Amino acid sequence: MSSPPGRRVRASSPGTSRQGSDAREGVRRRVKDLIEANRVMIFSKSYCPHSTRVKELFSSLGVDYNILELDQVEDGANVQEVLTEISNQKTVPNIFVNKVHVGGCDRTFKAHHNGLLQKLLQEDLAHDFDLIIIGGGSGGLSCAKEAANLGKKVMVLDFVVPSPQGSSWGLGGTCVNVGCIPKKLMHQAALLGQALQDSRKFGWEYNQQVKHNWEVMTEAIQNQISSLNWGYRLTLREKGVAYVNAYGEFVELHKIKATNKKGQETFYTASKFVIATGERPRYLGIQGDKEYCITSDDLFSLPYCPGRTLVIGSSYVGLECAGFLAGLGLDVTVMVRSVLLRGFDQEMAEKVGSYMEQQGVKFQRKFTPVLVQQMEKGSPGVLKVVAKSTEGPETVEGTYNTVLLAIGRDSCTRKIGLEKIGVKINEKNGKIPVNDVEQTNVPHVYAIGDILEGKPELTPVAIQAGKLLARRLFGASLEKCDYVNIPTTVFTPLEYGCCGLSEEKAIEVYKKENLEVYHTLFWPLEWTVAGRDNNTCYAKIICNKFDNERVVGFHLLGPNAGEITQGFAAAMKCGLTKQLLNDTIGIHPTCGEDFSRHRDEKVAEDQQQQHLWSLLTACSSQAASLTPWFGTHGGEPRPTPASQT
Ligand SMILES: Cc1cc2nc3c(=O)[nH]c(=O)nc-3n(C[C@H](O)[C@H](O)[C@H](O)COP(=O)(O)OP(=O)(O)OC[C@H]3O[C@@H](n4cnc5c(N)ncnc54)[C@H](O)[C@@H]3O)c2cc1C
Ligand SMILES: NC(=O)c1ccc[n+]([C@@H]2O[C@H](COP(=O)([O-])OP(=O)(O)OC[C@H]3O[C@@H](n4cnc5c(N)ncnc54)[C@H](OP(=O)(O)O)[C@@H]3O)[C@@H](O)[C@H]2O)c1
Repeated sequence: MSSPPGRRVRASSPGTSRQGSDAREGVRRRVKDLIEANRVMIFSKSYCPHSTRVKELFSSLGVDYNILELDQVEDGANVQEVLTEISNQKTVPNIFVNKVHVGGCDRTFKAHHNGLLQKLLQEDLAHDFDLIIIGGGSGGLSCAKEAANLGKKVMVLDFVVPSPQGSSWGLGGTCVNVGCIPKKLMHQAALLGQALQDSRKFGWEYNQQVKHNWEVMTEAIQNQISSLNWGYRLTLREKGVAYVNAYGEFVELHKIKATNKKGQETFYTASKFVIATGERPRYLGIQGDKEYCITSDDLFSLPYCPGRTLVIGSSYVGLECAGFLAGLGLDVTVMVRSVLLRGFDQEMAEKVGSYMEQQGVKFQRKFTPVLVQQMEKGSPGVLKVVAKSTEGPETVEGTYNTVLLAIGRDSCTRKIGLEKIGVKINEKNGKIPVNDVEQTNVPHVYAIGDILEGKPELTPVAIQAGKLLARRLFGASLEKCDYVNIPTTVFTPLEYGCCGLSEEKAIEVYKKENLEVYHTLFWPLEWTVAGRDNNTCYAKIICNKFDNERVVGFHLLGPNAGEITQGFAAAMKCGLTKQLLNDTIGIHPTCGEDFSRHRDEKVAEDQQQQHLWSLLTACSSQAASLTPWFGTHGGEPRPTPASQT
């Protein structure tokens, strides 16, 4: 054990002093978790002389112990009641060794004299690690680092099975290697192209023909990724986490098999396990898909420019990739099976699509591919795609240099021996159901990140869940991961940020008549001189009329929407209302200020704004109960003021 003996458990988290059965259940679970997670767990009071003797005994044996001083925590009395209930002992110190109740001070000394204590202490050594984490991505690494910070002996197994095209990568999982990081950097490459176009209007003069070099971009991005991979390895080493580059698979309840690249097998045991294996891109299951198509696993390290590209799928991955490829000057078509960005606010999704169309992306709606054939070999070659209409017998054919599949992702849960230890998965989608503390149906096995059933598949969610899980397992925290109002941004050419409910979902939850929807088109100042469209950027909030106009949905389509949405998400966590937005003084001139304009501000009634308003009313006819940002409830609509007055 690397922690100093006698680590003091922190005071309880907020909420534990709450009365009621929920709070009581929380304390009971917490006490049990502390007993389960710690080799030696002492419940005591800071002034108790008997506790001091017990602590001295464990120190003299060189054994780490965790201690919860009941007089130092808010809910000490509740903890004591729970202890009485589970151990039948009313007094402190109350000592547990390897989950076994030893008793108070006298009984602990007696156990020491008759050798029972040593035997109990030995049992934990039967396991190689306190915690083994399968999967070194966003969630797994976060959990590993936090558990190591809490003094636990931790192992992380991370192994990348190469894609059908042969791509593989280093430590860190999807986000850093084939997800958020390279995606955002390629998005940035595309934005720079747009900035170059704008720059002439701002007086930049250059004669050199501007063109993009795919190889230079990918090399620079891959170098950045390599440095992150290296950084992760270093951090694990510094924290004393054992990292093994091998594929993990359960063979027994407390034992896994780790198979490395050379096929060598090693077995490890642990008291607890966290599954954080993430997901991999799905394939269509049609002729030619695995042979000739690529996925996001291959795109970011593709050694040649993909050329004319067909993107199949129209959610996050599909639209983001299509967006930056078009921004880099490529001819891009998106094949859409049903809608854009399923599950997102559909008014916003269509606006995202319209802007992409303006930027040259073509959409082939209501088609799904049935065949991919190679017409010419090469880097890139030429592929023929046959697609069938989802609405009738019509088929279409097209030729492309590259076909990128972005049709969803499969959870990596079916080949890790879960059936051997009885961990249940949802057979349909491979997701793992967990309770509100990320525990599977097998008590010592936990799961976090993308493989969780019904949870958002986002890096910060996996990181937060991993960190809090480690704190609950090995620290004194009760804090659970809060999966409500998680913000996200789709990094399409015009970014779409949102937090809370889509308008469709809000209507389902609250009913249309209970909602007020405020919205505005806005024209970023930077776009005016550049001569970019004044009818594109859009902000919308959905408020619950019967809860003080609390904001239940926040939506923004505009430059830097990711940055802006992050701040408003914090405000929503604090219970943001329309009035609070009105009361907040904006930062001028920004896009974010459009959310905090004063309702009684004098409105500039120029023609252009009248035009915006008429467009708004036309395009939002299906919305719940639309009120322009500065309009009055039920009153005559007023035009929206420009953001750069
Ligand atoms: C193209 C793309 C763009 C994205 N962009 C964003 C974004 O902008 N913002 C955002 O928040 N999220 C984004 N995401 C989602 C984000 O990447 C994931 O939510 C996040 O990586 C999930 O973390 P995780 O720990 O659950 O899994 P992962 O990060 O996928 O890590 C799982 C790791 O476990 C390994 N593994 C699997 N099985 C085993 C095994 N049996 N033994 C050993 N190792 C194993 C895997 O190889 C992998 O390294 C994006 C995803 C994609 C595909
Ligand atoms: N910016 C970010 O934070 C970010 C970026 C990328 C990814 N992610 C995460 O990664 C997760 C996965 O994203 P994803 O886009 O890969 O998957 P997804 O959200 O599951 O979307 C899959 C898309 O493929 C389409 N599709 C499925 N089967 C098809 C078929 N046979 N033919 C044609 N189209 C088909 C779907 O259409 P239907 O609508 O018809 O089903 C949908 O548009 C997301 O949930 C997200 O959390 C986050």
